[in-house]
Amino acid sequence: MTTFQLPLADRVIFITGAASGIGKATVAACRDAGARVVAADLQSAEATASINGLDSGDLAVSLNVAESEAVKAAMVGVKERFGRLDGLVNCAGINGQGSIDHITVEQFRKVLAVHVEGTFNVTQAALPLLRAGTQAAIVNLCSIYGMTGGPANLSYNTAKGALLNFTRCLAADLGAEGIRVNAVSPGYIETPMTHMLQHEAAARMRERFVQMHLLRRPGQPEEVARAIRFLLSSDASFITGANLPVDGGFSSAQLILP
Ligand SMILES: NC(=O)c1ccc[n+]([C@@H]2O[C@H](COP(=O)([O-])OP(=O)(O)OC[C@H]3O[C@@H](n4cnc5c(N)ncnc54)[C@H](O)[C@@H]3O)[C@@H](O)[C@H]2O)c1
Repeated sequence: MTTFQLPLADRVIFITGAASGIGKATVAACRDAGARVVAADLQSAEATASINGLDSGDLAVSLNVAESEAVKAAMVGVKERFGRLDGLVNCAGINGQGSIDHITVEQFRKVLAVHVEGTFNVTQAALPLLRAGTQAAIVNLCSIYGMTGGPANLSYNTAKGALLNFTRCLAADLGAEGIRVNAVSPGYIETPMTHMLQHEAAARMRERFVQMHLLRRPGQPEEVARAIRFLLSSDASFITGANLPVDGGFSSAQLILP
């Protein structure tokens, strides 16, 4: 009789942005697949643990990914508790909004600090633990607007474009060690981040945006989480430096809308 093993059995996965949306769904998907998780967010550790229904096999930490010292301190705790990491998901993020005439350099910097510097900080601090792990894999949350330009969200789109190339460069640097690094680029996903598009003034724009997805519907966080889980697992053992759009076909074709 063959014994069935869950795809992430006994793996320890660090997930940022874990208290909401795609990060929260990723925590659930990884736990369902047998992983123990370190759920990290700006929220308090108690809140993140409670939101995710974590148990004693998991760990919740409170940190700002843009603060490198806080990130390093969190990794000390992870080392004491688990001694290693087998996966990292850089999911923490904030929205941008505004074209060049409508944002200040401080606003621009803040968005880059969370997405780009934050991913750098967490990845660099996690690396010794990932090197101590087994078949370690990193997944960075990019966006359809990191693959192409888009209007009125200059800081966010710039940050996601940078993250996509960061992913490829990191994959080049870590490939010889067997550490895989991939990007997931979601389309429009219904989470608290996109909730603001649901109130009246933005409703028409949201509807047109949704119609630009070939499947003519928004995505759900669980649909992104399953793609992330795949890239973390040994099912993706020969995939690195790749970008997996989870966008209902948005980036595959340009629809001519009526
Ligand atoms: N929702 C979408 O349509 C969509 C599309 C493409 C890409 N993404 C990306 O997916 C990721 C998750 O987005 P989401 O929609 O789930 O957003 P969300 O707002 O639901 O969740 C983001 C989480 O990140 C945390 N966070 C924010 N700044 C942080 C910081 N400095 N340090 C630590 N934690 C921080 C928040 O507290 C929150 O829990 C983001 O990187 C986002 O850019 C989302």
